Amino acid sequence: MRIISSVREMQQATDNFRRAGKLIGVVPTMGYLHEGHLSLIHLARRHADVVITTIFVNPTQFAPNEDFTKYPRDIERDTALAESAGTDILFTPSTDEMYPREYRTYVVVEQITKMLEGQFRPTHFRGVTTIVTKLFNITKPHVAVFGQKDAQQVVVIKQMVKDLNFDLEIIVAPIVREQDGLALSSRNVYLSESERKQSIVLSSALRRAEEYVHRGEKTPSRIIGEMKKMITAQPSARVDYISIADPASLEDVSAIPHHGSVLISLAVRFGQTRLIDNMLVYIP
Ligand code: PAJ
Repeated sequence: MRIISSVREMQQATDNFRRAGKLIGVVPTMGYLHEGHLSLIHLARRHADVVITTIFVNPTQFAPNEDFTKYPRDIERDTALAESAGTDILFTPSTDEMYPREYRTYVVVEQITKMLEGQFRPTHFRGVTTIVTKLFNITKPHVAVFGQKDAQQVVVIKQMVKDLNFDLEIIVAPIVREQDGLALSSRNVYLSESERKQSIVLSSALRRAEEYVHRGEKTPSRIIGEMKKMITAQPSARVDYISIADPASLEDVSAIPHHGSVLISLAVRFGQTRLIDNMLVYIP
């Protein structure tokens, strides 16, 4: 595995692979890799000849009051994990390399970035779409892999790719969970032992909601009410939102449709730690 931290060198490397007719896949991450990230690298391997994993904790997607400085980092461990999962090139730029002084340009996707996460993190997706655009221009991939764990991020990036005519394909990987149901996240290390136990409720509430939908419940507020009851029974849980939305527009549905699918998603804080989770539910 080759490790590259300069933009110029990364662009030259990917140009050479492209000239040799290789298919390039990229897996953007903020590091502190876990099995969820590794599943994305494995999926990229199946779609590309050359897999580039990027690790960059992107300051522009964190608000000033958020956890940018204390976001977990372990580049040595990440290097070993990325290599064993099948990464060919690990791109690990510095903050100065990505945002030199007098950096001025941002990419903004309208509308769908204001829903769900956008209500609580109004500048978050502007940071995500900006860094992902830069990473696409630096790694020049044919395919890019993102996780369904960040469902809204997938919708936003797909919209950006379509609107800005990026010549690449977005591949979405399913959510990887712990045995007890908690979705893997770099932020799970923040949880105290007690909060970790309580956090199981998120996946149970999503599964309960899925049962309701499959049993034919059509009123979103009844399902959301039940989820809220389950979650707030945990002493440390504070709900930011629970939503049952159209998976494309991300707008809350007024009734569960008779056919199609809904995106049930939530954000809940346990102490200082904010967790998100979701489930795409199909109505047969
Ligand atoms: P990060 O949170 O490190 O996640 C990197 C990728 O891994 C994202 O596509 C995310 O959805 C995916 N992922 C995280 N946990 C997962 C899980 N349990 N199962 C499956 N996939 C999972 O998302 C970001 O970084 C950043 O916003 C980024 C896109 C890199 C831009 O900075």
